Amino acid sequence: MKGQVTGYLLFSLGTAVIGSLQFGYNTGVINAPEEKLRSFFNQTWMQRYNEPISSGVCTIVWSVAVAIFSVGGMVGSFSVGVMANRFGRRRSMFLVNILAVIGGLLMGFSTICSSYEMVIAGRLVIGLFCGLFTGLTPMYVGEVSPTPLRGAFGTLHQLGVVVGILIAQIFGLEVLLGSDKLWPLLLALTVAPAVLQCILLPFCPESPRFLLINLKQEEQARKALVRLRGTEDVNKDLQEMKEESAKMAMEKKVTIAELFRSAAYRQPLLIAVMLQLSQQLSGINAVFYYSTGIFSSAGVKQPIYATIGAGIVNTIFTVVSLFLVEKAGRRTLHLLGLGGMAVSALVMTVSLLLKHITAMSYVAILAVMLFVAMFELGPGPIPWFIVAELFSQGPRPAAMAVAGCCNWTANFLVGMSFPKLVEWCGPWVFLIFTAFLIIFFIFTFIKVPETKGKTFDEIAREFGGAPPPAASSAEDPGATSSTAITLQASSPEK
Ligand code: GLC
Repeated sequence: MKGQVTGYLLFSLGTAVIGSLQFGYNTGVINAPEEKLRSFFNQTWMQRYNEPISSGVCTIVWSVAVAIFSVGGMVGSFSVGVMANRFGRRRSMFLVNILAVIGGLLMGFSTICSSYEMVIAGRLVIGLFCGLFTGLTPMYVGEVSPTPLRGAFGTLHQLGVVVGILIAQIFGLEVLLGSDKLWPLLLALTVAPAVLQCILLPFCPESPRFLLINLKQEEQARKALVRLRGTEDVNKDLQEMKEESAKMAMEKKVTIAELFRSAAYRQPLLIAVMLQLSQQLSGINAVFYYSTGIFSSAGVKQPIYATIGAGIVNTIFTVVSLFLVEKAGRRTLHLLGLGGMAVSALVMTVSLLLKHITAMSYVAILAVMLFVAMFELGPGPIPWFIVAELFSQGPRPAAMAVAGCCNWTANFLVGMSFPKLVEWCGPWVFLIFTAFLIIFFIFTFIKVPETKGKTFDEIAREFGGAPPPAASSAEDPGATSSTAITLQASSPEK
């Protein structure tokens, strides 16, 4: 590992992770100003129609503003493969920031223009932006990191997310930006990191794997690696990439349709999708979107602060996972996390059932903290980066698109259905998540392999990773793009 972690590598990772921070920020930012937004909808309505908005319509506008973010996320995450292959990893990140600027400005100027439609449009555009980054950041990070540290650095994406959520929770306080006047600024603040990332990205390298395997630019790839690793001796890395490239039938790009057709990708795809579902169906966002309500129904006096407490625990345990993941391994941590969450969900149920006992409000707080901590040990960070590990260069972008889209869809479903589920199940609601957690625990135990310390190529081989027959390139509709045309046989034999 010596000489592998350079300042330049950390700078490049840090720049990419600004995208994760943006995802977290925009996930967390909408909760606090709910009342302010509702009264803004009402004012606009009054101006236009000279009567107050009915509470039903107001709730619809509000729910749409919240949920359309995930719809944008689904579309954005699904488009990641096409972008990453066409423009490369770095240029895609650069271009995608235009969406953050547009979305941020739409929301920021909504009050000046007296238009709640601008809030909704802004949330949609920001969702697209975040969806793209939930693929681009893990892909870039996975591709530039040295193999022995790929998991630890992979966790940085989730660390960015949780810090983003925490910043949003804190800035959203009434005394800061969550006030009547300043909430548009709170929503528009996302423009600042976007501009910062655009200033920094030109100083980062393109992913060496993309340069070598997709573009066949070996010299450029070597230069990028030399700077990232801080040593001239990058032959081992290059060699490994060339082997991957050769084995995978020149790592031609794989379309989403091919990904589903090819038997070689079936196992890793199933695992990738199930892990993403395990992350969302664990119920984590039921806590993050509705924690304040959960705390107050358990009798907690100052629910906002308990929510921020959950954000802090969230951040601390992501750091713990970052240090554990290369030692304990992905599989073990994911199992531990799912199991721990199942137990916490049970404890939470008991505390909600027995809320007439005063001490139970403390038990509820503890159970929520434990739930969040266990989530960040494994189910939070691991699904995001393991997809990049389970696939080699050719199918990776398509796989990240499918996995990311499943994640966003499940996120949307939980977000939308949780309030209804609470109405139907009352204090028993978390048992639904306990059931899911047990199912995913069993699946992980049986199906998920350990990927710690293995090269992408070794992992692919474990799945019997023979690539689909090269012949399929003829029917690859995406193969007409420039990256495919530049494919020439590199001399992989060594
Ligand atoms: C993960 C999830 C996201 C959730 C967050 C909480 O990144 O994808 O939906 O809000 O963790 O920390």
